[in-house]
Amino acid sequence: MALYIGVMSGTSLDGLDIALVELTPAISLVATHYIPMPDALRTELFGLCSSGPDEIARSAIAQQNWVCLAAQGIHALLDSQKLKPEDVRAIGSHGQTIRHEPARGFTVQIGNPALLSELTGITVVSDFRSRDVAAGGQGAPLVPAFHEALFEGRTGHRAVLNVGGFSNLSLIEPEKPVAGFDCGPGNVLLDAWIHQQRHEHFDRDGQWAASGKVEPTLLRALLSDPFFLTKGPKSTGREVFNLPWLTRHLSHLPVFAAEDVQATLLELTALTIVESLQSAQPDTDELLVCGGGVHNRTLMKRLADLLPDTKVSSTAVYGVDPDWVEAMAFAWLAHCCLENIPANRPSVTGARGLRVLGAIYPA
Ligand SMILES: Nc1ncnc2c1ncn2[C@@H]1O[C@H](COP(=O)(O)OP(=O)(O)OP(=O)(O)O)[C@@H](O)[C@H]1O
Ligand SMILES: [Mg+2]
Repeated sequence: MALYIGVMSGTSLDGLDIALVELTPAISLVATHYIPMPDALRTELFGLCSSGPDEIARSAIAQQNWVCLAAQGIHALLDSQKLKPEDVRAIGSHGQTIRHEPARGFTVQIGNPALLSELTGITVVSDFRSRDVAAGGQGAPLVPAFHEALFEGRTGHRAVLNVGGFSNLSLIEPEKPVAGFDCGPGNVLLDAWIHQQRHEHFDRDGQWAASGKVEPTLLRALLSDPFFLTKGPKSTGREVFNLPWLTRHLSHLPVFAAEDVQATLLELTALTIVESLQSAQPDTDELLVCGGGVHNRTLMKRLADLLPDTKVSSTAVYGVDPDWVEAMAFAWLAHCCLENIPANRPSVTGARGLRVLGAIYPA
């Protein structure tokens, strides 16, 4: 039995997901710990996603604060399970993405792995994306290989959809290399708009979006972004889809009711997922959804309506808690690194070949 910890701090900046995972080699989730992102740290990390003064020192300080939170959470998780640091083989720590620009040859996740190892006494594996980017890949998404490992051995054409800040699909068919790519914004614009308009961090259950109506002219304008017209391998981030991007589109159009903008953003998320799926794997039998977006009932209903021939459900139907798939993936990726197992998939990222991902900071 080998225990690993996965730490995921996603683009939504909602919080840190910490998962204790057992690999026997069957993958199972043993225990979890969630830390909501403190407002001050969220503001600072969000600020670091674009250029600003003194950003090198600011990012160094922000990652120290981030690591202190992560280490506290890891200790709490170990205590709850009556485990000691030496019972855990490694922590896979994704860190916080502050830049993702594979076209310019870099992606940056901060999270001071040396300090995390020091504060926990556990080996840390981090910086999972850079090697794939160095090999000419997108560095994202990295989860398709894990989705395949998690759901392997099942028949049929299935897809796994993660709706985090951004949405990404993994396409899993028997006897074919797993495929996958980012579809576009998942929750990021929905969160940004409701925050600007109503000072809430997210649209609970998609209720606010459900109260509005889709504005076709706005939807058409948003869909004209070149990202949606490009075929994979592709990945995206806050550099492309952010509040100024939305504001720029809105400035060319008549004024819309705020809830209608939210309804249109939800439709954008749903349509870009469905169009991506239909063009890449039109005969999908089953779409399994994970990530925070699975709780957005309006979005889930819209996906099911747009895909009448595909069974749309949460990964929970296979006993996999949809809120913990990403954190589990980074526990698994740490294991792959320590075992020298390549974990990128050139069919997904476009890298020149298979690569072992991550950098190791021994305990
Ligand atoms: N009950 C809910 N109703 C609507 N949306 C929800 C609900 N719960 C969570 N969400 C959405 O999910 C988001 C968080 O999702 P998640 O943690 O999977 O994303 P992430 O941290 O950005 O991860 P990723 O790395 O996949 O981008 C929240 O910001 C919110 O938009
Ligand atoms: Mg999250």
